[in-house]
Amino acid sequence: MGQAGGCLRLVLLGAPASGKGTQGQRLADTLGIPKVSTGDMLRAARDAGTELGKLADGIMAAGKLVPDDLVIRLVDERLALPDTARGFILDGFPRTLPQAEALDALLERRGMSLDAAICIDLPRELLMERATLRRTDVRTGQIYHLKYNPPPDSAELVHRDDDKEETVRKRLDAYDTMTAPLLPYYQGKNILRHVDGVGSPADVSARITRLIAELSAAEGSAAARQAGRDTAQKVKGGADGG
Ligand code: AP5
Repeated sequence: MGQAGGCLRLVLLGAPASGKGTQGQRLADTLGIPKVSTGDMLRAARDAGTELGKLADGIMAAGKLVPDDLVIRLVDERLALPDTARGFILDGFPRTLPQAEALDALLERRGMSLDAAICIDLPRELLMERATLRRTDVRTGQIYHLKYNPPPDSAELVHRDDDKEETVRKRLDAYDTMTAPLLPYYQGKNILRHVDGVGSPADVSARITRLIAELSAAEGSAAARQAGRDTAQKVKGGADGG
């Protein structure tokens, strides 16, 4: 898992502007697996003027969630692409319990499961500052922050419609009511891990990388223990059989 030749299927959880996109991209670059962001896909659909994009536009601008069946279909189609064979990082999906259950079901159909759900924790006042001062370069998709990660002069910046203070407040409320219940869901599956999102992007990255290394090591030892048990069983079977 997460090692050379391994496979990592990860969900990044966290409130709006907690750093999922920033960390997801760093991880994707390091691990060579795609970041799959439903927010990016919906914005691309909106910019392309597709039916889905037209429908999602008003919902996103109002700080509400797009209907489950639409985003589930988007993710199902995206995860069928060959670049996810060695894993993926889901950013902004799932966001509701029905989405989380649908994700489990679609992975199970493919004989897969999630390795971890990592939640980036950040206090509300920092979330507000990070969202309202965020800017994105339309040409590269690179995310900047006017205070913490200023863009170069060459960047062609856009300010997301839903990053206005009033809308961010609504998105934070939607997170509390619709998405926060996913934390006990993944806790119950024993794959939830929390990461402190305060500090520079590099600090947060280092925490996430450490966590993934620990998960890989734990999985390695579990596999080694299982292999040990299998071998012992075979030896015993051989001895019993004379
Ligand atoms: P989406 O695009 O997913 O937005 P979000 O979850 O609200 O998350 P953000 O993109 O706002 O923030 P982020 O956590 O990625 O933070 P970032 O790294 O950019 O969704 C938008 C909308 O689409 C939703 O409201 C909904 O309508 C719809 N939608 C999407 N998915 C859906 C789904 N599954 N179901 C239904 N509807 C869905 O960082 C934020 C800022 O902080 C940046 O400026 C960055 O440079 C800066 N920053 C990051 N890390 C640090 C750091 N460590 N220190 C200082 N600054 C930092």
